[in-house]
Amino acid sequence: MVRRAKRPVQDDHGPLRPFLKWAGGKRRLVAQIAPHLPRQFGRFHEPFVGSGALYFHLRPTRASLSDTNERLVRTYSGLRDEPDRVIELLSSYPHEKQFFLKMRAQDIDERSDAEVAAWFIYLNKTAYNGLYRVNRKNGYNVPFGDYRRPNICDEPTLRHCAKQLKRVKLQLSDFESAARRARKGDLVYFDPPYVPLSATSYFTSYTTQGFGLEDHRRLRDLALALKRRGVHVRLSNSGSPVVRDLYRDDFKLIPIKARRDINCRAASRGEIIELFIK
Ligand SMILES: C[S@@+](CC[C@H](N)C(=O)[O-])C[C@H]1O[C@@H](n2cnc3c(N)ncnc32)[C@H](O)[C@@H]1O
Repeated sequence: MVRRAKRPVQDDHGPLRPFLKWAGGKRRLVAQIAPHLPRQFGRFHEPFVGSGALYFHLRPTRASLSDTNERLVRTYSGLRDEPDRVIELLSSYPHEKQFFLKMRAQDIDERSDAEVAAWFIYLNKTAYNGLYRVNRKNGYNVPFGDYRRPNICDEPTLRHCAKQLKRVKLQLSDFESAARRARKGDLVYFDPPYVPLSATSYFTSYTTQGFGLEDHRRLRDLALALKRRGVHVRLSNSGSPVVRDLYRDDFKLIPIKARRDINCRAASRGEIIELFIK
């Protein structure tokens, strides 16, 4: 039997904003995406969670969130389990370049989840464009953003998100093992690193964040297997011909108008068409 959860589950707070900025985050696109979601579903799964924009918008009662970025997953755990400590730390961190550089250089992985969360959120609010990028030794290497007044400790949002996360199952995992557990009637939303727009069907060896064509094929095969099992599957990706070729036979492709905003080159910040796939 499929247990039903109404969507979105709202209390006084209504839909939530994510507590992180994220490259490829869906905060500005949820209004276009939401009409294409099922009215009812069982558990919500987001296996490429990033800032979890759709999750925080929907606020489902039962959810599984996962990602391969260990510091990100530990940030979710730290905020969920110790919001007071995270807020205490964040409110003590000044907005100064020297302090930023000290934080950036810290060996954070040996610390508690709450400390990782404060570190991650601080850098997310103060680094250039909120980017998360590391070198080969996993050292965070995004420059100081030099913003006028970044909201380093947005206490209401942090508290609301922490409360929402109490209901969630968090996992550090590749998308495939995370989503395989979805059952008939569940909703799975896949938002992977996108296929670059310039990629063509003849182009076989590119990667974005280590996510290459083989991973995109693996994702399509999994999405199709889940769909055939009666799972509600939704995906986002670029409008590249490679994506159209992968999905056109078995899925519906819905154009979504997006803006490129996390990009160094101002010339490529215009409107682009992405795909929402169901
Ligand atoms: C486009 S972002 C997701 C954005 C998210 N929907 C949001 O609203 O912020 C893609 C995410 O996939 C994660 N990722 C990359 N490769 C992965 C893999 N093999 N399995 C699971 N997550 C992966 C990245 O760490 C990143 O957080």
